[in-house]
Amino acid sequence: MSFFIADIKPILSLFLAERRRALLLGAMLSAATVTAGIALLGLSGWFITATSLAGLSAAAAMTFDVFAPAAGIRLLAIIRTAARYGERLATHDATLGVLAALRERLFRGFAEPGAARTLFHRPARLLFRLTADIDALDSLYLRILVPAAVAVGAALTASVVLGLMHFVFGLGFGLFLAGAGLGLPLIAGRAARKHARRRAHGIEALRSRAIDLVAGQTDLLMAGRLEAQRGAIAAADSYAAHADDRLNRVETGLTFGFGLVSTLLLAASLLAVAALTETKAITAPVAALGLLVAFASVEPFAALRRGALELGRTLLAAKRIAPRLAVADEARPLATPSPGYVFCLAGVSAFHENSAVPALENIDLVLKQGERLAVIGSSGAGKTSLLALLSHELPARAGSIAAMTATVLTQRTELFEDSLRGNLALANPEASETGLRQALAAAGLLVDVEAMPRGLDTPLGEGGLGLSGGQSRRLALARLFLRDTPLWLLDEPTEGLDGATARDVLSRLSAMAAGRSLVIATHIRREAVIADRIAVIEGGRISEVSRRGEAAFEKALDRLRPD
Ligand code: GTP
Ligand code: MG
Repeated sequence: MSFFIADIKPILSLFLAERRRALLLGAMLSAATVTAGIALLGLSGWFITATSLAGLSAAAAMTFDVFAPAAGIRLLAIIRTAARYGERLATHDATLGVLAALRERLFRGFAEPGAARTLFHRPARLLFRLTADIDALDSLYLRILVPAAVAVGAALTASVVLGLMHFVFGLGFGLFLAGAGLGLPLIAGRAARKHARRRAHGIEALRSRAIDLVAGQTDLLMAGRLEAQRGAIAAADSYAAHADDRLNRVETGLTFGFGLVSTLLLAASLLAVAALTETKAITAPVAALGLLVAFASVEPFAALRRGALELGRTLLAAKRIAPRLAVADEARPLATPSPGYVFCLAGVSAFHENSAVPALENIDLVLKQGERLAVIGSSGAGKTSLLALLSHELPARAGSIAAMTATVLTQRTELFEDSLRGNLALANPEASETGLRQALAAAGLLVDVEAMPRGLDTPLGEGGLGLSGGQSRRLALARLFLRDTPLWLLDEPTEGLDGATARDVLSRLSAMAAGRSLVIATHIRREAVIADRIAVIEGGRISEVSRRGEAAFEKALDRLRPD
């Protein structure tokens, strides 16, 4: 039980925080449905038996009141129907609302600095967390908590009704029903846990391997690994199928157990009411009522079957999702730089995840508003890491950072399977048609786009398929131009463009950046030459900073690629 509570607690509190009233209302309506159902069956049994007995003698038939019980039956039927309708609306609306909120929090958690970097290596995992794991949580309320509460309520109702006939009968019935009815699903839940977990892992592996096969088909074929990848997919499939088979066995066992317990309980109840009628403790109609109440109260426990089998999967999902939600709760106050500056770094050191060597060490650097800084250094020196630090994507382990809001033009262009317009609007959803065209023109891409038959509505394939490398780069630049932030961080902005286009783009970039501050990580002279200062970075340390007009500035430029 403790494993259950520990895993479920954070999610449960989230459920309650989100829609407490709707969830409680749903549970209450659910209990009302079942109680009305039990009462309906019991009363009907009593009524039918009593009417037929009354029919045996003329005197009894005259005095027998048919109307009150008939009205009661009708009322109970209406209550049951209305409560069931309300319960469906309330529970499903609340659950879906909670899951939507969970999904949003999870998205925000994944949007935290650094999280994207980790996920970049495992996109299939992100997909899985956002879909399957969240969906698995809907069983927590709909298939586990509500049915359990309802079943306990039913057992309680039945034992009170039966207890009125005979105290020990009611008590024994209630205890046995609640014990076996909750105990069996718990035992099955424990047995199913391992298999449910394996099944989930198997399906996750199946999905990610299938995605790898589709995405990396060419590479796999060239490396002669296509067959091996297919084998790996088949292995994941049979692993999941085996777990599925085990789960089916547990379910069969549970169904059998339920059948056995309910048969035993009903047989015992039949004997008990027979004995009570025999000793004249109760009348025959009351005996019929008791038996039917017993019969009806066993039913809700069967609804726990599905939840029991999904328990393992639900717990696993809860366990995996909970830490992400905790991250999303932390507000991260960002320091603002001193007036007149866009960033101030003092003694900053930073490490990449799982790396013992600092990517940046003891960095002291400031940038004034409107100033342009080029960062140069050999490959792996730490240029991109510095930009990541300034955009708060890479956390500092030592020192202090204060930086204004920045937009990054990443070293690798990221485009999405969407129209050109969609890919652009990502940077600024409010941008007007004119704004989009201006940005495209500034990036030197408008002529190319207008030559396409569908213009801005041209659909791109996965990862921006359909554009050349240079066109993709210019699209990324156009996206940057739509971002009105005081600081632009450019990671090798014109890499991959030919000299003439690059110079054209750079002069437009320079014009668009008027009044803004720029940091340009570069290997190429043409990009560094638009800067006011050049910082040289070596092995994560800044070894030299020179200003335009100084001899060191020219020497730094001469070290760069000349085109
Ligand atoms: P180029 O882009 O090739 O010119 O290099 P750069 O100067 O931009 O280097 P970058 O800042 O990307 O890398 C600096 C150091 O950090 C290198 O030693 C990298 O191997 C390392 N590094 C970069 N990204 C990661 C990462 O995501 N994880 C880890 N563990 N190390 C990283
Ligand atoms: Mg880089």
